[in-house]
Amino acid sequence: MKHLTGLRQLSADTITRILDKAAHHKHLFINDESAITRTLHSRRIALAFFENSTRTRFSFEIAARNLGASTLNFSASASSISKGESILDTIRNLEAMRVDAFVIRHPSSGAAEMISNHTDRHIINAGDGAHEHPTQALLDIFTLREYFTSLSGVKVMILGDILHSRVARSNIFGLQALGAEVAVCAPATLLPTDCSKLDVRVFASLDDGLRWADAALVLRLQLERATGGFLPSLSDYSEHFGLTDERLERVRKHLLVLHPGPINREIEIAGNVADRIQPPGYSKSMLLEQVTNGVAVRTAVLEMLMASDT
Ligand code: CP
Repeated sequence: MKHLTGLRQLSADTITRILDKAAHHKHLFINDESAITRTLHSRRIALAFFENSTRTRFSFEIAARNLGASTLNFSASASSISKGESILDTIRNLEAMRVDAFVIRHPSSGAAEMISNHTDRHIINAGDGAHEHPTQALLDIFTLREYFTSLSGVKVMILGDILHSRVARSNIFGLQALGAEVAVCAPATLLPTDCSKLDVRVFASLDDGLRWADAALVLRLQLERATGGFLPSLSDYSEHFGLTDERLERVRKHLLVLHPGPINREIEIAGNVADRIQPPGYSKSMLLEQVTNGVAVRTAVLEMLMASDT
């Protein structure tokens, strides 16, 4: 595998190999970081973020450094992109500085794929518009696999702003490849028009979705991407689609709760649901475990793509 631009095209076997490698790296990351082999010694990785990030950018940076690579942090506002240089010219100039790989986050769907067609360096999609966020989905799936052991038959409900979510799309592709059952739950105005092509169950009622699901992946309401008049009011949204203890108690269902972050507390998820990592209560939050797992998964991805280069 040369690039990672999405999960749609990855086989179950490839996803499983990444997850297995991530399990190895998680063990080392938690128990003895110094034991991680510097398989990317003297390699250069550019972290090119055209949108803000905390979790993805820093976890890639930790992953790259743990493997012995050096990182170049690139932001559009501090680069010559702000003077009108194109993204492809920018990539070519960084290639000339012997950058081996680009981790790219961009607001345009398809940006990572487009760049991968114009370079012989590795391209890793760190989120492109509303298209895909493959390493986020891999870490979500890794977290679910650690908890349930196997994804086969596990019922995962993706809750919230599906329309604007690259995380939802990548998770649907990856979870389905590994045999999970996937549903979405959202107001009709926050579902994509091609929802029927995604082959997922759709719940209009959160109570019905909760009764069905073993795990819920709660999504952030992406207020910054909503340019039309289709957003419900925040109070309406949290009343009907916010994950709260009252709702979980009503359906009397134990639920594993994931969220890619950042969270809007008290809008899509109540603070106590987001923070509860052990009983008592009807849910278990995996939010910070996901973040730790992000380092392991991104270490595995970088090593898998780059370590066998000659
Ligand atoms: N989940 C996620 O992509 O978080 P960041 O935007 O902080 O990277």
